[in-house]
Amino acid sequence: MESLGGRREKRIKDKDLFETVEEVWDRQTLLAAYEVMRRLRIRRFAGVVSAGKEARVYRAVGRGGKEYAVKIYLTVTAEFRKSIQKYLLGDPRFQNVDISNTKKLFFAWARKEYRNLKRMWEAGVPVPRPYLVYQNIIVMEFIGRDGLRAPLLHEVYRELGEDELRDVYEQVIEAYRCILCGARLVHADFSEYNIMLLDGRIYVIDVAQAVSLDHPNAEDFLLHDVYNIHRFFAREAGLDVPEPRQILEEVKACSRMRCSPRRGEEGDEEG
Ligand SMILES: Nc1ncnc2c1ncn2[C@@H]1O[C@H](COP(=O)(O)OP(=O)(O)OP(=O)(O)O)[C@@H](O)[C@H]1O
Ligand SMILES: [Mg+2]
Repeated sequence: MESLGGRREKRIKDKDLFETVEEVWDRQTLLAAYEVMRRLRIRRFAGVVSAGKEARVYRAVGRGGKEYAVKIYLTVTAEFRKSIQKYLLGDPRFQNVDISNTKKLFFAWARKEYRNLKRMWEAGVPVPRPYLVYQNIIVMEFIGRDGLRAPLLHEVYRELGEDELRDVYEQVIEAYRCILCGARLVHADFSEYNIMLLDGRIYVIDVAQAVSLDHPNAEDFLLHDVYNIHRFFAREAGLDVPEPRQILEEVKACSRMRCSPRRGEEGDEEG
């Protein structure tokens, strides 16, 4: 395991990594992880950030201590199969995926997440910067500090004052407008569970299920997202915000979009 951790890493860390990967990674994922490490010069995986139903998110550390979030799809749940039907096949970009092959399905799903993330990042949406997709693995910017991930909006909103909450609300509206008008996507799972907060700035995450505007259900997904925004800010956070219909108008007001396109730099990879 020496090459995984780098010579300078303590043995115990390698042992931890080995135990982690042995538990949940199949051989192909392990090989894919090595390849990702090689390409991005990642030195070590430094712990599990989140173990969700389908995917695990790890913090990884590269040269000069640069941190990455590595999301790996590992499990096919019933919910995941449903998502595939709803969000993948309806998307003109992914209509021809052979979903009878579980591996191909994972790869397509990871690729979809990466493409969505890239499209949002390039449009100027506050999302983690995407670095690479390889098989079932996506690597992006780590949102956090001192090795700890930033909190989700859901986890911290109670600690925010009214002015701070209003500022977050405005950032959310602007971010959604940018997703819609800039990236020309609908997030389709937009909620306080998929927004991180760092230094008062929001980051939208978890974009695998986002669909392009020509998806047959794009309008339904958009309405659902808008209701979610309203539900959270009005009911959970107790902020005085407009009715869903008006929020919908606001996020659709492309002429008011303030985000500006970013350019990808070298190192962005898909393959
Ligand atoms: N770029 C990132 N930087 C730091 N932490 C992240 C990043 N992306 C995701 N996370 C953490 O990992 C968790 C899961 O990520 P995400 O929401 O993308 O996956 P998921 O498959 O939807 O998992 P879940 O089912 O738990 O929502 C997030 O709630 C967040 O805590
Ligand atoms: Mg999530």
